[in-house]
Amino acid sequence: MKTRITELFGIEHPIIQGGMHYVGFAELAAAVSEAGGLGIITGLTQKTPDDLDKEIKKARELTDKPIGVNLTFLPAFATPPYPEYIDAIISNGIKAVETAGRNPAEHLPKLKEAGIKIIHKCTSVRHSLKAQSIGCDAVSVDGFECGGHPGEDDIPNMILLPRAADELDIPFVASGGQADARSLVASLAMGAEGVNMGTRFIATKEAPVHDNVKQAIVAASELDTALVMRPLRNTERVLKNAAVDEILKIEQEKGADLQITDILDQVAGVYPQIMMEGEMDRGAWSCGMVAGLIHDIPTCKELIDRIMNEADAIIRQRLEGFLAA
Ligand SMILES: Cc1cc2nc3c(=O)[nH]c(=O)nc-3n(C[C@H](O)[C@H](O)[C@H](O)COP(=O)(O)O)c2cc1C
Repeated sequence: MKTRITELFGIEHPIIQGGMHYVGFAELAAAVSEAGGLGIITGLTQKTPDDLDKEIKKARELTDKPIGVNLTFLPAFATPPYPEYIDAIISNGIKAVETAGRNPAEHLPKLKEAGIKIIHKCTSVRHSLKAQSIGCDAVSVDGFECGGHPGEDDIPNMILLPRAADELDIPFVASGGQADARSLVASLAMGAEGVNMGTRFIATKEAPVHDNVKQAIVAASELDTALVMRPLRNTERVLKNAAVDEILKIEQEKGADLQITDILDQVAGVYPQIMMEGEMDRGAWSCGMVAGLIHDIPTCKELIDRIMNEADAIIRQRLEGFLAA
């Protein structure tokens, strides 16, 4: 399949693995890229720019296909040294960066000068248009169903994608709720030129996370996620668990007076214990509604090949079959 996204990033299939905290390590990114998609290393999971440098080099030993790095600009207690992270990206010859969160404008000139293509993740049409106007090459349009931070507008992809198609000139991928060939073909029909998947890629053999995390996703249905931190306007879609029940209870008690410090124990610094140690109730962790469509733990290659083969069948047989001769 050839789209403006496959052309932009020099990849075989229009499938991107979104940056994921404590999941997007070299092993996963390399496996996705080696299978013909675009694998993305999560920049800030690496504690220092030097660690990111090593992680990119590790991925480079596993594949020579294009790999991306995610840079997330979220409200944080301490600002990471973004320019140094960018130096590590540039010096390793990375040509794709996924930005997310706050406006990345101040960092774009340096990235673009190095010939890097930028895909910015946006949860609204207005943010997508802003990304286009500041010079991003593509956007990842992240609908309300997505795992992680869906923003505050609550517009699902069935509406958001055609709205983005109506307004944008640059190419975009559908992000949030994407799991299989049906997702891909539907997203292409709505104007996207590829998909970005998060939760689906956690439940793969190569994702370097504890097996408990993968099993939790396979066991979950589409009813098993919840939104936390809404009163802080930092909404996150997470898998329901004991810690999330506790957060929701605190949020209800505090109402509009909620402070981040009230729930710090359940949300701050919990990823290593969840993802690495498999302590599933330790805190809140991002997970999409798409968990309801995930029933197995294939390799990245098996997953991507299955999506592309089934997409071919859906387009050529099912869809064409509906057309009157
Ligand atoms: C466990 C987890 C961690 C994530 N961490 C990040 C992150 O650090 N930065 C970011 O831009 N997006 C992050 N995301 C969002 C994904 O990149 C992607 O946009 C999202 O998962 C798409 O929705 P889906 O889960 O329905 O596929 C995370 C998602 C998950 C599930």
